[in-house]
Amino acid sequence: MKKLGVVLCGAGFGSAFLPIYRDHPDVKFVGLFDTDAEKMKQAASHLGLTRLYGSYREVLSDPEVDAVHIVTPIPLHEEQAVLALESGRHCASTVPMSMTIDGIRAIVKAQKESGKTYMLMETTLYTRQFLNAWGLYASGELGRIQLLRGCHYQDMENWPEHWMGLPPMYYATHAMSPIARLAGARIERVVCYGSGQMRPALRCRYGNPFPAETALLRFENGLAAEVTRTLFETARAYLEGFNVYGSRASLEWGFRDADDLIMTRLESADHRGFGTPVQTLRSPAAYKNLPESIRRYTLAAGSYDETQPEKSLSEGAAGGHHGSHPHLVHEFVRSILEEREPAIGLEFACNVSAAGILAHASALAGGKEIEIPRF
Ligand SMILES: NC(=O)c1ccc[n+]([C@@H]2O[C@H](COP(=O)([O-])OP(=O)(O)OC[C@H]3O[C@@H](n4cnc5c(N)ncnc54)[C@H](O)[C@@H]3O)[C@@H](O)[C@H]2O)c1
Repeated sequence: MKKLGVVLCGAGFGSAFLPIYRDHPDVKFVGLFDTDAEKMKQAASHLGLTRLYGSYREVLSDPEVDAVHIVTPIPLHEEQAVLALESGRHCASTVPMSMTIDGIRAIVKAQKESGKTYMLMETTLYTRQFLNAWGLYASGELGRIQLLRGCHYQDMENWPEHWMGLPPMYYATHAMSPIARLAGARIERVVCYGSGQMRPALRCRYGNPFPAETALLRFENGLAAEVTRTLFETARAYLEGFNVYGSRASLEWGFRDADDLIMTRLESADHRGFGTPVQTLRSPAAYKNLPESIRRYTLAAGSYDETQPEKSLSEGAAGGHHGSHPHLVHEFVRSILEEREPAIGLEFACNVSAAGILAHASALAGGKEIEIPRF
């Protein structure tokens, strides 16, 4: 069975994925490239990685490299993805896919021409909470979906320069993706309003006057959803959450990112809609479909106990982004080897990315309704 040579670009958040690739049974080696040579060496030596690169060009000239995983600053994603695909490499990209519709089109063109895999590494689709919600929906417990809500509140003050003043909806995939997956249909139209006032210094880089943006989405199957993003000067605890309202039961994410889902059941409410039963729902650990060697990465550092693996995997604290990282790596690797579309494929990635970019365009146009193109 073929094993993959993978190179990860960007040793910030990207470092979290290095040990997962290193320990994946279908990965021959994981290499690293970061323009900050010192940071690269530190990240690599800590994990015993020896395959380091001096430039992106060098990565794409290495004949042993099958796939590239991009975790660099946002303005670089599009160009690096296009170059990877054009060089015949499979490409995983952290979010967002691109900051422009033309950028999305360029990635689609490069993917179609190369025939290589492109996967958006959207963490929110593999959190324990989302996998739990998906299971409850698929088993019929929620009934018919009637309405969806997504949110991402995060203050990006003091983050690297390219974040400063970013239009909130340019980084909306964490809020859009869970609800788009649950809706099961393409986002067809968006209407969005910008809200609040941002200090002038934050308006320079992107010409964006809005610290907060709130949008309404219309899906092709008639469902509607509300999506809200805040990025600057808005006091709110960090949360990447979703709410799904069904005809039988609904799920809402608690107030904080670490909170459990809250389930409301309609069935046993009294006949005038009061006394609706509400319960907190602990989302079970999700690791059983992963190779044993990477299951530990669903857990927070220090939570895995070699002497009691099953116990620690099922009871330990979830790792980064609620245990999603090894699922993303496994899906990317297996989709390449099985020569199939990844679970977060190009069409889905384009749709949620374009909905965010055009939501901001709508906000700048005072709330104009905009159609999301097909790609
Ligand atoms: N939940 C998620 O999916 C999630 C979470 C955090 C960050 N992200 C995404 O990950 C990306 C990186 O975020 P971060 O917090 O690690 O940022 P960061 O700025 O801390 O790290 C980026 C790294 O990329 C390196 N770099 C810069 N230019 C490069 C180039 N041309 N080639 C290779 N490396 C280069 C930098 O030296 C740095 O080490 C961002 O685009 C962000 O959107 C996604």
